[in-house]
Amino acid sequence: MPVTSEPTPTFSLAPYKELDNSALADRIDAIRKDWGKRLVILGHHYQQDEVIAHSDLRGDSLRLSQLAADSHECRAIVFCGVHFMAETADILANRSAKVIERQGERVSVILPDMAAGCSMADMAQIDQVEAAWEELSEWLDTEKIIPVTYINSTAALKAFCGRHNGIVCTSSNAEKVLRWSLERGERVFFFPDQHLGRNTAISMGIDVARMPVWDPSADEGGGNTSDALRESRVLLWKGHCSVHQMFTAAHVTQFREKFPGIKILVHPECPQDVFETADASGSTAKIIDIVQQSPAGTQWAIGTELHLVNRLREEHPEQDIHFLSPVVCMCATMYRIDLAHLCWSLENLDAKTPVGRIEVDPEIAEWSLVALDRMLELS
Ligand code: 13P
Ligand code: SF4
Repeated sequence: MPVTSEPTPTFSLAPYKELDNSALADRIDAIRKDWGKRLVILGHHYQQDEVIAHSDLRGDSLRLSQLAADSHECRAIVFCGVHFMAETADILANRSAKVIERQGERVSVILPDMAAGCSMADMAQIDQVEAAWEELSEWLDTEKIIPVTYINSTAALKAFCGRHNGIVCTSSNAEKVLRWSLERGERVFFFPDQHLGRNTAISMGIDVARMPVWDPSADEGGGNTSDALRESRVLLWKGHCSVHQMFTAAHVTQFREKFPGIKILVHPECPQDVFETADASGSTAKIIDIVQQSPAGTQWAIGTELHLVNRLREEHPEQDIHFLSPVVCMCATMYRIDLAHLCWSLENLDAKTPVGRIEVDPEIAEWSLVALDRMLELS
């Protein structure tokens, strides 16, 4: 289990919530100036604009994990994202070789609001995964199954993959990772996002009939027959992103009817029918890149988290950018990070009473690192 240590904070959160954003921004800037390169604020693309404005580095999950892995001068990472991202940063920034290089000093990794979790990561609890693996061994040789976990998962699940010859992937490298895995095993068990697993495997030409879904709440076989399990090439865990699951094929049709020629651009966490009918897809970084490379006048309907789509719309007034849903699809947990939490966590860090510190259990960190390093070597 992750270890989180919470000393009594010097400053309580309540007064920060009374301050306006410009006062908070000044205080955040003062701490950043004071700490210089010893402090790195990382911001995921789904963060709100005010938070992104204070991020030293922003990126998708792959880029942010690489940045955490490469940290040299920094002694504190404040991660404006969600819990699994901060866990990953802790594992990578505090690998033993790095700690030795820093003469035993650890990088403090801070999540400004500990309630910023990920509902998808929570859908694959380690005890459920271990029970499924045990049950699978009654039908299949688990030595020949490669477990692959999307980076949006707990450190305990990453460690499980490390222990069982498996690997981590992100939405940027899922295809490369699946290829690597299928070269080493008869089949893959893909956690926790069934959509990313299915969409990636479809893009590789794998028959969807060979991708049964393992439902951890089913009575037996994850709800599958033994034949379906034996025929499987990619076994998908029954998990999803509650934000991306809200985009539907009907939204795609409505946009195409209303704006003939519009291009549909989606994240691969979207359901299969949305992914298959889209013109292009990719991680948050790829979505940004595709828009940046497009000529003025291009019309888009984009299926990913609302804050990113709104930012793209503001940054690219020369294009016509729409949100691919009539309803708000935003990540409520990403949104928990605001300037009040950021300022509060920075000032407590500065006062040597860090709040929201993420420190992964050493054994879990070691095995997670095995699975993360396999991915980073491929990327
Ligand atoms: P990427 O930034 O890697 O595309 O991930 C999207 C996401 O859902 C993060 O939680
Ligand atoms: Fe998790 Fe989806 Fe939010 Fe990403 S957008 S953090 S996958 S709930």
